Amino acid sequence: MKTTTGLDSQYRPEWHYSAERNWLNDPNGLIYSNGTYHLFYQHNPFGDDWGNMSWGHATSADLNHWTEHPVAIPCDDQEGIFSGSAVADVHNTSGFGVGGVPPLVAIYTSAYVGTSPLAGRQAQSLAYSIDDGATWTKYAGNPVLDRASSDFRDPKVFWYDGEAGGYWVMVAVEALHREVLLYKSADLKSWEYLSTFGPANATEGIWECPDLFELPVDGDVADTRWVLVVNLSPGGIAGGSGGQYFIGTFDGVTFSSETTVTEGLQPDTSRMADYGWLDWGRDYYAAVSFSNVPDGRRLMIGWMNNWQYAASTPTDGWRSAMSLAREVGLVSRGGRPVLVQEAVDPFRDQELGQGVELFALGRQPLTPGMTWLPAEAHGDVLRIDAEFEPGPAGKVGLVLRAGMESNPAERTVLAYDSATGELSLDRTESGNVKFDATFPSVERVYVPLENGRLKLRVFVDRCSVEVFAQDGLATITDLVFPANSSNAVGLLAEGDGGTLVSLAVVR
Ligand code: FRU
Repeated sequence: MKTTTGLDSQYRPEWHYSAERNWLNDPNGLIYSNGTYHLFYQHNPFGDDWGNMSWGHATSADLNHWTEHPVAIPCDDQEGIFSGSAVADVHNTSGFGVGGVPPLVAIYTSAYVGTSPLAGRQAQSLAYSIDDGATWTKYAGNPVLDRASSDFRDPKVFWYDGEAGGYWVMVAVEALHREVLLYKSADLKSWEYLSTFGPANATEGIWECPDLFELPVDGDVADTRWVLVVNLSPGGIAGGSGGQYFIGTFDGVTFSSETTVTEGLQPDTSRMADYGWLDWGRDYYAAVSFSNVPDGRRLMIGWMNNWQYAASTPTDGWRSAMSLAREVGLVSRGGRPVLVQEAVDPFRDQELGQGVELFALGRQPLTPGMTWLPAEAHGDVLRIDAEFEPGPAGKVGLVLRAGMESNPAERTVLAYDSATGELSLDRTESGNVKFDATFPSVERVYVPLENGRLKLRVFVDRCSVEVFAQDGLATITDLVFPANSSNAVGLLAEGDGGTLVSLAVVR
């Protein structure tokens, strides 16, 4: 949670992390260590535009309340500190540990500039911390992996336990080639090439920020798959930046995808909806997962923005926020595993005074037209849980951040259309949409009803709407910039509106 007494409180999210001042993009070095979640991030310490890329730092005990810390890894006149990951080197394979204290090791991309002899290249480098993430030292032997490439970046490193022993595995991109490269290492310092994945599925934009992890299917640890995450920009499903995923197997050398639809560099974008997407909205990018989380939980965070308009979003003194953290899993649908996502809910904690139910409705037919909820259910920071039985023809949904009398046209509309089976989030009249020509948009995802029902969990947090449909089978994340006073929430029904099963509004 951020205090909103500081800069520009109008759009400052309460529960989505933003830096107190200045620019932020990708989450980096996500790691859990000794009871603390660390969120490092692409940060410009000197301005609210992209530049001077350094790793900012925040920590949290619960993934909802964040505390900002001093810049962890600053840029200098030789290198920008681009995206990467962090690992807990518990066996001190790197030798950076001191006096039996194992180090945390950050693996980041050095984007060499200026007078550096490597200027123009991107290569992978290390920094380490022996005080549990508070302070970081760059390794004197950097870079540790250099392919003499200008676009080799975003290393995600994890420990792989193979039958013949364990080793570190790195996934990184050759961004322009739309390739994920895999490497292995015993000590994080010397790396050996393993294999290349791609191009496959969505390839219109450059590939960035990959991730690779194993998950049980339907909770069965004897039946697992590996998930390869590949962010790309532009060329995401909703336009601009987006994240795709492949499901398959990993044998310690090669990732084999079971969900490749198209191979090679695809000029044909007609298969886009058949690919695996982390999110169907415009504002969930550079999503990667935490290292070292106990109990096999896989938690991800994305940058809640889009390179199409990130530089011009209308905030002052600070710019950009992270998504809520999401726990991801695999469930079987139609005989094959698919990804599901559940938000780490800031409103779950009754003891901290969060999660107070403001308003609830039980089962009732929906009246065609707009039904405004009473004032106590309005707000710019809310969780809304709604379940519908849509009628055979028509639309049902929620109207959010609506202006009512003060601003009658202003609203963000989440609607399910029985005719198409699509859930859409329409922000074309969400408030300030004029700061960039590509911003006004309607996002769409096909959502099969389950037992005739549509289940929605929606998080509204000042400048964002995050939708989890059918227990996280599909998500839509969009920024919105409404007037302060546009706080009304309504129920929408068109045609044969169907039935509201239940509604709860929580603050
Ligand atoms: C993704 C990205 C990464 C890069 C970083 C630079 O948003 O372009 O590929 O490392 O941002 O800030």
